[in-house]
Amino acid sequence: MDEKEISQAVISRLPRYYRYLGELKFEGVERISSQELSELMKVTASQIRQDFNNFGGFGQQGYGYNVEYLYQEIGKILGLDKKHNLIIIGAGNLGQALANYMNFERRGFIIRGLFDCNSRLHGTIIRDIEVQPMEKIKDFVKENDIDIAVLTIPKASAVDVAEQLVQYGIRAIWNFAHVDLNVPEGIQVENVHLSDSLMRLSYNINRYDSELAKKNSAENA
Ligand code: NAI
Repeated sequence: MDEKEISQAVISRLPRYYRYLGELKFEGVERISSQELSELMKVTASQIRQDFNNFGGFGQQGYGYNVEYLYQEIGKILGLDKKHNLIIIGAGNLGQALANYMNFERRGFIIRGLFDCNSRLHGTIIRDIEVQPMEKIKDFVKENDIDIAVLTIPKASAVDVAEQLVQYGIRAIWNFAHVDLNVPEGIQVENVHLSDSLMRLSYNINRYDSELAKKNSAENA
């Protein structure tokens, strides 16, 4: 497949395609038309065709898409054909919840270590992973081929900790701290803010309510 610049909008839709195709594969579906996929995913068929055309199409006229092939190819584009070793920094509520979630491993994201500055947490075991002091990160990253760090610490220290992690060889940060990190070019950062998602939900509730109110007042006029 040719490497070409793909828009972030397309990339952001790929995990959803991947999830649906994974479910279809699990159900034993071998092929699917863009129309069927469109109905299932509630995305227009033309959007699906346009998205897949970024990667050379995948489909065959009159046949539709081969589910297994498409699943594998999108997985490759997302880099899911490779394993990633992760460490979590901050073994509080969120860090422990992420460490306890096993599904990341099915996607090739293996949580190898948990680190925290609070000595009371050191030695705590979460799903066979021991919480270690921060001083051990440097050697641990080298010895365990760690490429991703998950930041679940307060924002006050996140920027400094991220800078240190980069010096230790971390290539990517999954950032839950509510602050923008200052990392050199080439270091990938994905910010996750659950509250943004909640705010979008709140916006949609408001929008729905005000449209309903407008409709009701038009009907009663
Ligand atoms: P928590 O207080 O339960 O855990 C934070 C942990 O980080 C503690 O164990 C603490 O000892 C450790 N820590 C603090 N500074 C550290 C440092 N410099 N180095 C290493 N460890 C350090 O907090 P919780 O609920 O787990 O949240 C963690 C952070 O994630 C908070 O800043 C919170 O605002 C944020 N958060 C973000 C969400 C998102 O959607 N982005 C959702 C929930 C929380």
